[in-house]
Amino acid sequence: MADLSALKARFIEIYGESAADIAAYHAPGRVNLIGEHTDYNGGYVFPAALTFGTTLLLRPRSDRRIGFASTNMELSKQISIDELHYDVADDWMNYPKGIVVQLAAVGAALTRGYDLLFHGEIPNGAGLSSSASIEVVTAYGLLTAENQPVDKVKIALLAQKTENQFVGVNCGIMDQFAVANGKKDHAILLMCDTLEYRHVPFAAGSCKLVIGNTNKRRGLVESAYNERRRQCEQAVGDLQRLFPELTLLGQLTLKQFQVHSGLIGDPTVRRRAQHVVEEIDRVLQAVRVLEEGDLAAFGKLMTASHVSLRDLYEVTGPELDAMVEAAWAVPGVLGSRMTGAGFGGCTVSLVQEAAVSDFIDRVGREYTEKTGLTPSFYVCDIGDGVKQEEGI
Ligand code: GLA
Repeated sequence: MADLSALKARFIEIYGESAADIAAYHAPGRVNLIGEHTDYNGGYVFPAALTFGTTLLLRPRSDRRIGFASTNMELSKQISIDELHYDVADDWMNYPKGIVVQLAAVGAALTRGYDLLFHGEIPNGAGLSSSASIEVVTAYGLLTAENQPVDKVKIALLAQKTENQFVGVNCGIMDQFAVANGKKDHAILLMCDTLEYRHVPFAAGSCKLVIGNTNKRRGLVESAYNERRRQCEQAVGDLQRLFPELTLLGQLTLKQFQVHSGLIGDPTVRRRAQHVVEEIDRVLQAVRVLEEGDLAAFGKLMTASHVSLRDLYEVTGPELDAMVEAAWAVPGVLGSRMTGAGFGGCTVSLVQEAAVSDFIDRVGREYTEKTGLTPSFYVCDIGDGVKQEEGI
């Protein structure tokens, strides 16, 4: 957890005196355990919130300006509430700016300005949802400070809309939802079409979740992500000849897909759709085996998910494959897969606690030998979603 008194001292250094009205909020990063590239297809995902994320300190101002500053990112600025526009040069500040604009669009316009100080612990570009974490903590903090109702599902939707419309990234709902609604020691089974969800205890027993950061920035990700989305829409279009009501691949059962996949003309598009429909089914299987305490079966499903993302959806790439394949070969690894959008970023592995240090050694060494990159590893616990920090 961030050192709140050090952050408060920094806040006063940047924005000046009066510690009285400073409030602190925290939103985590997220890791998706299984259910990849299913959210925008109206399917299931199974993410969990991390114990590290973004802390936001804020204090009301007497004018209509917003102060943006961060302890770990370049740039700081003051902008009037009435002049908030997307500007590529403003980099990370576009996320909180977009939230302020979006709050106004939903009838929760700020009544006064605020000074904001962000402290981020999530490596940028690692696919652990640093941007969703900034968006959600900003929305939650500002709504609380304005005495507006805070509904975490609505906050997730508002943050997703900010990402889609203000930042211009065409993501699904998973990241913002997990960051807002996470719960300590639980993963979230979320149906992305209806937003029905439930927290499932993640009883890892003698195992640990280990995140491996390939430290390969996700360069290709945006264009390939949009292309995958288009291919899924194309598959729906083809299937509509038989299922005129179909709007999302997630509405199809596995059986229906198996019988009628021939309707999808382009073989690449058919493979994309196969991944989506099978991955949604894997999420439900994974939750079932987890609830039965069968971690070995859970791990096998994680591994099957990676294979499908590699061979059918084709979003892994040499770095993620090298790390995951090295992980599969280590004794004590129950399963390993890429997590997030792909093309770099992170893997997540389920590892026997006693094997964790051997895992980090071996996977690290083999990964560097194959790619020339130095990875980072985080042995992670599952934390809470967005909340106000007491004791500041
Ligand atoms: C990114 C997006 C999510 C989701 C994943 C893939 O993290 O932001 O909405 O689509 O990729 O599962």
